[in-house]
Amino acid sequence: MKIFLDSADLKEVRTAAGWGVLSGVTTNPTLAAKAGARDFKSVLAEICQLVPGAAISAEVVSSDTDSMLNEARELAAVDPQVVVKIPVTPDGLAAVRQLGQEGIRTNVTLVFSTAQAILAAAAGADFVSPFVGRLDDRGEDGLGLVGEIMKVFNTYRYATEVIAASIRTPRQVVGAALAGAHIATVPFKVLQRLFEHPLTAQGIERFRADWELLQGR
Ligand code: G3P
Repeated sequence: MKIFLDSADLKEVRTAAGWGVLSGVTTNPTLAAKAGARDFKSVLAEICQLVPGAAISAEVVSSDTDSMLNEARELAAVDPQVVVKIPVTPDGLAAVRQLGQEGIRTNVTLVFSTAQAILAAAAGADFVSPFVGRLDDRGEDGLGLVGEIMKVFNTYRYATEVIAASIRTPRQVVGAALAGAHIATVPFKVLQRLFEHPLTAQGIERFRADWELLQGR
């Protein structure tokens, strides 16, 4: 499973890219606002440079097809790495179909059901993003949804890649991998926690101490 960073914060992107584990970055208007990204297009361009060759998602905010298409073309013009995030509505999927014909990649977002994921694949989306955490927040089964989508996508060999999004915990990342998701997009704090295990820290300390003993320090 590939790891994407779910962030529009340049410092976080730079740090996580330095760890060598990133295959992409996803942003949304909320994350851009949180990062204080006023000139979002220049932030987007910088993210593309920080993670060369990776898929970098940026979201449209209009609701009708024509306006989404205009926004999408502007975002895609920033860099060939840009993938345009579009909500799973009838207007959104019409835009997805058109953008596919123009060679602009899309990530269909705000997906909360398998039916919506099937529609996104039918429209030719490159990626589809089921929101795990927001479903769990409501007492529903976010990872169960990812598993169900994977079962359908594998059965029909859809080319659309599934991004487990709205991730809140390291365990959800593992759960997404066990469910067969192609990608998990992970907030910076969760990504940091994925590295952690007390036995790793203890082991490093013990190896260092034993080595120093051997050197007679
Ligand atoms: O980028 C989409 C998604 O990951 C949002 O997550 O935490 O706002 O539910 P969250």
